[in-house]
Amino acid sequence: VAMAVATALCGATQASALTVGFSQIGSESGWRSAETKVAKQEAEKRGITLKIADAQQKQENQIKAVRSFIAQGVDAIFIAPVVATGWTPVLQEAKEAKIPVFLLDRMIDVNDPSLYTAAVASDSVYEGKVAAEWLLKDVAGQPCNVVELQGTVGSSVAINRKKGFVDGIAASPNVKIIRSQSGDFTRSKGKEVMESFIKAEQNGKNICAVYAHNDDMAIGAIQAIKEAGLKPGSQIKVVSIDAVPDIFKAMIDGEANATVELTPNMAGPAFDALIALKKEGKQPQKFIQTESRLLLPDTAQAEYQSKKDLGY
Ligand code: AHR
Repeated sequence: VAMAVATALCGATQASALTVGFSQIGSESGWRSAETKVAKQEAEKRGITLKIADAQQKQENQIKAVRSFIAQGVDAIFIAPVVATGWTPVLQEAKEAKIPVFLLDRMIDVNDPSLYTAAVASDSVYEGKVAAEWLLKDVAGQPCNVVELQGTVGSSVAINRKKGFVDGIAASPNVKIIRSQSGDFTRSKGKEVMESFIKAEQNGKNICAVYAHNDDMAIGAIQAIKEAGLKPGSQIKVVSIDAVPDIFKAMIDGEANATVELTPNMAGPAFDALIALKKEGKQPQKFIQTESRLLLPDTAQAEYQSKKDLGY
């Protein structure tokens, strides 16, 4: 027993001695704010000191933050990379400083995969496919003109969610993307871009569905649809990704149809992998994949409640 207590204490001491620097993108969406909140909770549970730098959506701020974490000698660096390219030099610096880097929720393009230790993320191509499959089933062979609200230009998730959806509808000529533009993952831009789609497409009458790369843009689009005098959820179907509480509210009101869940708990698995690496020298799995569930109005009330209970 004494040994076990000693081991547990030793583990706790080691975990509590860890300091992690987290370069977060910003607070562009409800999902992003939830991810930050959960990261703080998960750090606290494990006695980890978490330093968060908000990059306000700019990669240059992320690079500065990473350099500052290196200078501070943190035990690990977490990065939610706003865009996929441009990371090699700063990750080289982290590698030279022997600081493990974990990617959260988005991926990067690097020739040398040893520049990061592991990534915790969903399969974002699959998310797009799930959204497409839901739509194909829902329209059951009827023609459907889709407008797409893309996420941040150059982000892995925007690239992949587009690809997954395009692949998903490829064999179904009845479903076509007629317009596609970035709404930068924000509610306000989602609304703005949807307004322009509606104007360009016979006051929305030529649009059958909106596919938004996140729920916040979908919520902005719902507003634009309502302001144009149309009914979101029926006259224009709404399918998106994230599963934030507000999209379930919209489903309960009959204004949204489907979402693909992305857990905001990206930091928890990364902390566990880091602790195993530091304590046992255990090399983490390179890609720690989170689940992607399709969620529909039938469970919206329960999902809304459970997300609220978790404090999202
Ligand atoms: O990288 C994950 C995406 O970033 C979320 O789906 C979106 O809401 C956020 O801004």
